[in-house]
Amino acid sequence: MLARPLAALVLLCAATARALAAPTSPPQPESYRESLRLTSFPDGKVLSDFTFTLDGPWHERGNEVALNTVAHHHTLLPRLLTSLIRQHRVASFHLTLSSGRWLPTWPIHLPAELPASGIELTAWLEVLEGESDGDERKRWQAFTSAVSGLFCAGVVADGVETSTTSPTWAVPFEGPGDAAEHRLYRLSMPRLAAACTESLTPFLSLLPCASHAGLSSFLNPHRLFDGEWTLIGIQFAKDDEHETARLALEVGSVQDPVRRDRLTGQMGRREFSLKSLYDRALSTSCPVANASTIELVVPTHSTNPFSIEPDRARVLKNVDGRDVAIWDVQQALETAQLDVSLTWPGENVFQHPLRSKLPVPPLTVRRITHAVGVERGRIGVEVVNNLEDEAEVVWGESWPWWLRGYLSTLEATLNGTTSTDLVADLDYTPSIARKRPTSLQALLSIPPRTTARLLLAYETASLWYTEYPSDANRGFSVPGASLTLLSPPPPPSHDTPSSSALQIGDDGFLALRPPRLRLTTPTTLVSLPTPDFSMPYNVIILTSTVIALYFGSVLNGMVRRWWVVDVAPAGEDKVKDE
Ligand SMILES: *[C@@H]1O[C@H](CO)[C@@H](O)[C@H](O)[C@H]1NC(C)=O
Ligand SMILES: *[C@@H]1O[C@H](CO)[C@@H](O)[C@H](O)[C@H]1NC(C)=O
Repeated sequence: MLARPLAALVLLCAATARALAAPTSPPQPESYRESLRLTSFPDGKVLSDFTFTLDGPWHERGNEVALNTVAHHHTLLPRLLTSLIRQHRVASFHLTLSSGRWLPTWPIHLPAELPASGIELTAWLEVLEGESDGDERKRWQAFTSAVSGLFCAGVVADGVETSTTSPTWAVPFEGPGDAAEHRLYRLSMPRLAAACTESLTPFLSLLPCASHAGLSSFLNPHRLFDGEWTLIGIQFAKDDEHETARLALEVGSVQDPVRRDRLTGQMGRREFSLKSLYDRALSTSCPVANASTIELVVPTHSTNPFSIEPDRARVLKNVDGRDVAIWDVQQALETAQLDVSLTWPGENVFQHPLRSKLPVPPLTVRRITHAVGVERGRIGVEVVNNLEDEAEVVWGESWPWWLRGYLSTLEATLNGTTSTDLVADLDYTPSIARKRPTSLQALLSIPPRTTARLLLAYETASLWYTEYPSDANRGFSVPGASLTLLSPPPPPSHDTPSSSALQIGDDGFLALRPPRLRLTTPTTLVSLPTPDFSMPYNVIILTSTVIALYFGSVLNGMVRRWWVVDVAPAGEDKVKDE
């Protein structure tokens, strides 16, 4: 009886010995870093930006622990996610769930990326030899549902195919490999409230300290999702060459301390502290964190004097051209609880600055739609280049299949006059009904301080009866347009011929001109020809009424008998039949 387990044990020992004897490269150390950056905006709002970064080794083959048994060992990288990536052969992916609207007057520190409101999933899948396009799409769909299940994102299965595009002009391939060996897939779904408590719970379970210690204990859903704008981001990338992988988790939220102050019966001050923003205190640090910092961007927009507390464990640094106060959480918690605060001692009521005093973003974008009836209209964007230089912008659209654009009607104007130089290059993939969305990408060059407008005509399709949502009269959501500002061309050097024009080669131009800013317009609602769904009910109700009236009278006539009642004088109890 004992012989079999013993034999297995011997085999296991032999295998372990072999694995130990084999020459292995020194393992990459694992690390976990967490940081929180607070930025106060001129209009009194506060942006909290949490970043949790997990780095670890990544071996494609895994460790052989026994004959035919391969194990993948990760201490920090969550196994839930790594097994998913291995199974679907994904090189990198980025999932963002966001709610609310990022106001154009909020300052943007370049480079920045503001995702579309709703769900956005971008992934580079490895191209497998001998796999057909159909199978690859199936792999993408399986990956999408797995990710959606993991983060409670609710991507409906039949919507994946009709919302997937490959906007290669706007998404650079990251990593050491060859972009040609990978395929880009992007799914975008407009949703009203994509970032919510249900998505935060699985997010927390991926962090080594969950919500028990360290900065992740500040992730209080009651406060985060009460903000003006909320974001949950998950980004994964692996590097096969150096055998490392990185998972970055991000939570962003814009809160309004003035509103909260008024709610507590005060006059409305813009001061804030960690306690007032998240209603939690920091008393323990995450023991596995290699670095844990809280950063506060020193406000430059304020003319009134302000004070930043506490002084303990604080350093002042210049990061990317901004002065930032940085606290080392582990060091600060050695003595007492840490509560960072920014206060304006002389200010009782916050005065909202004039609109002209608010910062101007490099690009201002706006969605334009002109509907003519419910079937036809014009749709497009307006982009204002507020920079002093010419801006090269990639305009990307992904329209649902039921919105057919006509490219021949594209109208480009600069400052209101028709221009032929605005669109430098264009790539258009028309839609296939119930299969593929329309995708459009265009390279625009906008002169300094100029307003560019692009509009094209569209026609909407009629849907099947079952394809209408329960409230068809609300309108149908069209995802926002994405505008990517490319970084300025590198100065001409000796070995490369100086050419200012962008070349769109097979390997893309993004490698040379990394994106500096990505903006998305808000989701638009479009009305579709909607049948009058109440008509069948009206007919049913009318018919039922007529039948009920008829049947009622017939029944009455059949079962009732009529007779005359003689009312005799009192005492004589006599009723005579008719
Ligand atoms: C991070 O800390 C762990 C121990 O807590 C250590 O083993 C690891 O080497 C550190 N990583 C780096 C990159 O320093
Ligand atoms: C557009 O108008 C602005 C001022 O309103 C001007 O500065 C800019 O040069 C104009 N652009 C073109 C291309 O005419």
